Amino acid sequence: MYEGFEIQEAIPEASSMIETFRAIGYNLETAVADIIDNSITACAKQIIIQRYWDGGNSIISIKDDGMGMTNEDLIHAMRPGAQNPLVERDEKDLGRFGLGLKTASFSQCRKLTVLSKKNGITSFWTWDLDFVAKCKKWNLIHWCPEAFKNSLDDVESGTIVIWSELDRIIPLNVDKMDQVAKERFSMALQKVREHIAMTFHRFIEDKQISIIWGSHSILPWNPFCPTESKRQPFPVEHLAGNVTLTGYVLPHKLNFSSEDAFRKAEGPKGWSGQQGFYVYRGKRLLLFGDWLGLFKKEECCKLARIAIDLPNSQDAEWQIDIKKSKAHPPIYCREQIEQYAKKVRASAEEVFRHRGKILKQRAGQQFHPLWLEKRKDSNWSYIINRDHPLVAYFKGLAETHPAEAIDQMLSLIESSVPTKTIFINEAKNEDKYETDKALDTTLIHKTIKSMYDSLINQGKNSLQAKALLKIIEPFNFYEDFIDLL
Ligand SMILES: Nc1ncnc2c1ncn2[C@@H]1O[C@H](COP(=O)(O)OP(=O)(O)O)[C@@H](O)[C@H]1O
Ligand SMILES: [Mg+2]
Repeated sequence: MYEGFEIQEAIPEASSMIETFRAIGYNLETAVADIIDNSITACAKQIIIQRYWDGGNSIISIKDDGMGMTNEDLIHAMRPGAQNPLVERDEKDLGRFGLGLKTASFSQCRKLTVLSKKNGITSFWTWDLDFVAKCKKWNLIHWCPEAFKNSLDDVESGTIVIWSELDRIIPLNVDKMDQVAKERFSMALQKVREHIAMTFHRFIEDKQISIIWGSHSILPWNPFCPTESKRQPFPVEHLAGNVTLTGYVLPHKLNFSSEDAFRKAEGPKGWSGQQGFYVYRGKRLLLFGDWLGLFKKEECCKLARIAIDLPNSQDAEWQIDIKKSKAHPPIYCREQIEQYAKKVRASAEEVFRHRGKILKQRAGQQFHPLWLEKRKDSNWSYIINRDHPLVAYFKGLAETHPAEAIDQMLSLIESSVPTKTIFINEAKNEDKYETDKALDTTLIHKTIKSMYDSLINQGKNSLQAKALLKIIEPFNFYEDFIDLL
């Protein structure tokens, strides 16, 4: 090919390449998860995550008892782009681009050391980004932090990934006595722990792996609350390419088995944030609490969660990115996903809104709402239930104590405005909602006329009375009618 043409080597410049790697957009949670993926692919049974606080010299390490690597394997693994993404992967392989180990690590730290043990021999190599930038060459260093020299002695085979100079989490000049920085570090790690409990919950539930955090095993966090008897599962739906959808509506707060269970079910992003799709590739959760651009997150749909299960052969179709935290459903199945999700969302909204219904069933008696929702086409209005027992009560009271009756009635109305329902309807119909239509014109006209008569009786002349009426809400909308009086 290109015989007779001049050739010129143009090797990527080391320091700018590094910055590109660092900017791929991992966060600490997704970066750690990517390292754990490698351990799982290497058939690890146990993964141990350790954090060592030492100010700017703090370290995070992730160790596994997987198959490990030989020295040659390790050098290959440390090379950016170690594997071609187009090569077909084993069904259980969680990797893809041959970049995860490097990009995930560099996104968080300036120094990456990997020790790996295979056939009884431990090998180790370090990437130091400052060294690469300085010598302008991708040179690995045969160096390992002193404290980790023997870290694989207790396993037959395995690998430990060590991150030091964590400049994206702790500025490197921070002193170990800096309590604020320490607190920040521990809060960042708390999020990592929650993320791991969620991302790998299927592996932990199946006892395929255990993940040790310091000295405790991380318990799985299943977004679909399998032990809650009052959740509503939806029938599984099959999409092209062996992809399945399984929707769940979680129980209303009042119907959770306990308050504690309700709180635990909330998840890292909070109730509203966790609604939406949960995309799994095999057992691995890629993306969570996201409507994939098909819907907006809404308070009323916060109990809806839908699992999408993909085989890893669907990576390209679903545009799984390097960080494994984004996915886009292919156009040909969007419609089907949308229709399915609509049903789950409608059901979730029903559960969220009709807390009242539950009260009614519980009491076994007729329930008396104070406000009624009147719906005409896409317009809602809210009226006071004239048959409410309190309305009759106030009418009675008005006969002897009119001022008190009006006062009490107004207080009751103020304290019971159905803000939640209004909020939901308003949010769903931002453009269509019109309050004006809710007003009954005949009744308003009657009231204006009777107030006008009363003002005249009080000695106002017609002009004065009309001027007064025009500055009273909602009469101000009826100037034409007032002028005709
Ligand atoms: N913990 C580990 N145990 C054994 N091999 C590993 C481990 N981590 C990485 N490797 C090897 O390094 C290679 C490169 O890893 P990585 O950069 O994450 O890319 P990918 O996972 O996409 O292959 C892996 O394919 C694997 O062969
Ligand atoms: Mg990987």
